[in-house]
Amino acid sequence: MDIALHRYLPMRIVILDSADEVAAYGAEIFIRCIRQKPAAVLGLATGSTPLALYRRLIDANRDAVVSFAKVSSFNLDEYLGLAGDHPQSYRHFMNTHLFDHIDINPDNTHVPPGDAADPLQACADYDKLITKLGGIDIQLLGIGRNGHIGFNEPSSGLQSRTRVKTLTRATIDDNARFFSTQEFQPHLSITMGIGTILEARKVVLLATGAAKAGAIKAAAEGPLTASCPASALQMHPDALLIVDAAAAAGLERKAFYKHIERENQKLLQSLGKT
Ligand code: PGA
Repeated sequence: MDIALHRYLPMRIVILDSADEVAAYGAEIFIRCIRQKPAAVLGLATGSTPLALYRRLIDANRDAVVSFAKVSSFNLDEYLGLAGDHPQSYRHFMNTHLFDHIDINPDNTHVPPGDAADPLQACADYDKLITKLGGIDIQLLGIGRNGHIGFNEPSSGLQSRTRVKTLTRATIDDNARFFSTQEFQPHLSITMGIGTILEARKVVLLATGAAKAGAIKAAAEGPLTASCPASALQMHPDALLIVDAAAAAGLERKAFYKHIERENQKLLQSLGKT
């Protein structure tokens, strides 16, 4: 079901009824990818949206449906100034919500080092390591309300590489819920660049909830612009947006995307590929 047969849209858009269906659909794509290529290189994301997908990957690993023993992973971003053992670090998030519960080799999991002595060098090294391991096969993305992907905030260069990025006030406020009032909340990050993300062979962006409707509309139907970093995915040859009804609410061509998916499924069935 993840074969993009229709290349005439800038992105393939799958609209599902619920957040749970979004997670199930996305998880299935990752599981298929790893089963086809056991040493797959995954690009992973933090945030609330991927959590349900990660729970499904954990279940599939426990039930021996998929193994991560040969998989490597690269996370999109990390707060600059937080070491990996800090409870709000994205390294800690990934260990807690995924890596500690699957058979992945921890040495093969990569998150940008928030405590690097030389962050600029660490950014260059991160991109080099992705290339050395053969590039990312499948990249998972969430989307910020402001259209960011990773910590590529609006105004990010569309060809940017992994680098230090200043967070917008909107992102700091959105993420303040994870920090206690006394706690230091970083205003800087290390993030894969938009150019780095676009090099992944396949990109899967998940969005759920009404708060994401504006960002999804701008990403899918707005102009290609640094003002909406996710719009850069319009240039990607294999980008898939999986959204629930609430996140899809602002899309103008919703009925058309649903029609395309129905046609897609028919065609796949006729080819015996579902
Ligand atoms: P969320 O974050 O999944 O917590 O909404 C998404 C993002 O900011 O990329």
